[in-house]
Amino acid sequence: MKKISLSILFIMLVITVFGQQAERMISIIPEPVSLVKKGGHYVLPENVTISSPVGKEMNFVNNYLKDKLATATGKKVSVAANAKNTNIQLVLNKTADGKIGDEGYALSVTSSGVVIKANKPAGLFYGVQTLLQLFPPQIESAKVQENVSWQVPQVEITDYPRVGWRGLMLDVSRHFFTVDEVKRYIDDMAKYKYNRFHWHLTDDEGWRIEIKSLPKLTEVGAWRVEKIGTFGDMSKPLPGEPKNYGGFYTQDQIRDIVKYAADRFVQVMPEIDVPGHSLAAIASYPELSCTPGADKYEVHAGEQFMDWSHGAPPIALVDNTLCPANEKVYEFMDKVMTEVAQLFPFEYIHTGGDEAPHNFWQKSPQVQALMKREGLKTIPQVQSYFGKRLEKIIQAKGKKMMGWDEILEGGITPTTALMSWRGVKYGIEASNSGHYVVMSPTIFTYIDYMQGDISTEPPVYSSLRLNQAYKFDPIPEGANAKYILGGQANLWTEQIYNIRQAEYMTWPRGFAIAESVWSPKEKKDWDKFAAKTQDHFQRLNYAQTKYSPAIYDPIVKVTRDGDKYYVELTTEIDGLDIYTSFDNSEPDNFYPKYTKPQLIPKDASLMRIITYRGDKPIGRLMTIRVDDLKKRVR
Ligand code: ACM
Repeated sequence: MKKISLSILFIMLVITVFGQQAERMISIIPEPVSLVKKGGHYVLPENVTISSPVGKEMNFVNNYLKDKLATATGKKVSVAANAKNTNIQLVLNKTADGKIGDEGYALSVTSSGVVIKANKPAGLFYGVQTLLQLFPPQIESAKVQENVSWQVPQVEITDYPRVGWRGLMLDVSRHFFTVDEVKRYIDDMAKYKYNRFHWHLTDDEGWRIEIKSLPKLTEVGAWRVEKIGTFGDMSKPLPGEPKNYGGFYTQDQIRDIVKYAADRFVQVMPEIDVPGHSLAAIASYPELSCTPGADKYEVHAGEQFMDWSHGAPPIALVDNTLCPANEKVYEFMDKVMTEVAQLFPFEYIHTGGDEAPHNFWQKSPQVQALMKREGLKTIPQVQSYFGKRLEKIIQAKGKKMMGWDEILEGGITPTTALMSWRGVKYGIEASNSGHYVVMSPTIFTYIDYMQGDISTEPPVYSSLRLNQAYKFDPIPEGANAKYILGGQANLWTEQIYNIRQAEYMTWPRGFAIAESVWSPKEKKDWDKFAAKTQDHFQRLNYAQTKYSPAIYDPIVKVTRDGDKYYVELTTEIDGLDIYTSFDNSEPDNFYPKYTKPQLIPKDASLMRIITYRGDKPIGRLMTIRVDDLKKRVR
């Protein structure tokens, strides 16, 4: 009897396991506008045929789909132009479907195959991304995967984006990323339907774009002393210490990346960050500064050089600003923008404008003379004077200017666009006065901030958990939606030394921002998104893309009551059990389960924390010194 019931149990288990495989959850990120499950599957045959329109923009899409379907499955895949009765059909609508626009698509999976229809090639590309997400996660592998049932659920999907600008910014100045690494980053973002790559190419720590008429920018400005540690706390470079860290992109490499991105329907916006954040340019051409002293300028290597203790703008310890009162600066900008405009087909050039310190300009006789001559009353007005002249240069090259929100302070022309980063209020204000705006507020989209507890992350001064990033709304209340181009996440790389860490910081928060800028607001659902995120971790595993598992780690809050300290632990997602210890040993799921804030024992020196799902450890073992915990009390 016991034997029989055990066998029945086993059979039930097998059915459940296989049933679950067959009923793999559908997890599309970003969530489509409409998805109807019809039951049943379409199984990919051994020889897969794809029919697709021909044309310049379709060549890449066709090869992309063919490679993706062939690589992990090991199947034979062929593409033919406008063939009949193929397994997968990509179709460009003869009469445009007004609802789906230029980037939308309709995807239909039936028992006989897959049809994706769109008005434009971009829509077919996004339909292809959705189709790939309907396959098992092994589809992301670069090697043939055995024993996988290559099937997709039968569905009807209609999908199109909420906003047109869906951006990610990568800072390649603080740390340098190779051409292949940048391409890999763009490839990953395209999978989640991002379409703007904001390339932060210049800063105090390195000038990374070849400007042929200004060779010192890359001979000098692209190189600094290598430092490894915590940015902002590095030792000062010694006199004569070799400048052995850096790099730049040649113009051929830039054209190659722009083409690579365009194939994936990603437009590249270059940023030349001026007049602040310009130490690398000044180290190359010291005459661009208002503060004489050619011998003292060096590309910044991570030592303290701004004093933020008084808030923004910072007090610069070294003058890192271009001199707005020097005609040579405008000649310099003209040369730079001539070449930048030729390299990047995108309509906007971002010219920074953030965090320009005032203290050296205030002291400069040249700036004072400029203020008198031009009737400028304040330093922000001086920056505005610079910005207006810069915009004329950019417009003369046939481009539009975009800047960080500080440029609003001294006044901007009606044609300047704004990237709102210090919250959404500047973007709201600018949109209501008819400026185009990209929303990129620190509180939702700064993916350089820590996503887990400081005990598991490189220290950064602020945190942005996944559930907070997911709350991002690119069109916040009060904004004039007509002027909101869209939203963007920014990856600054002071603490990011390599592409693996860049990936770790981007994913899964990049999922949250992707869904926020693509999916209808009413379709967003945190619990569903959290489940999809965990499902997509498997895709990233097969793709060998690094991501943060911080959603499995608890949020640690410390409170104080007299001389007693309590540690309160919560989780971003449901279904996790937390175990802790103060006795220096590693807790497991046989330790008492966390149920309420824990009193820190008087003599304890370490707290260790781990989460489990059922009987499996899932979070990382967190070890925090009690001294550090006590410092966290607000
Ligand atoms: C910025 O984060 N300084 C734009």
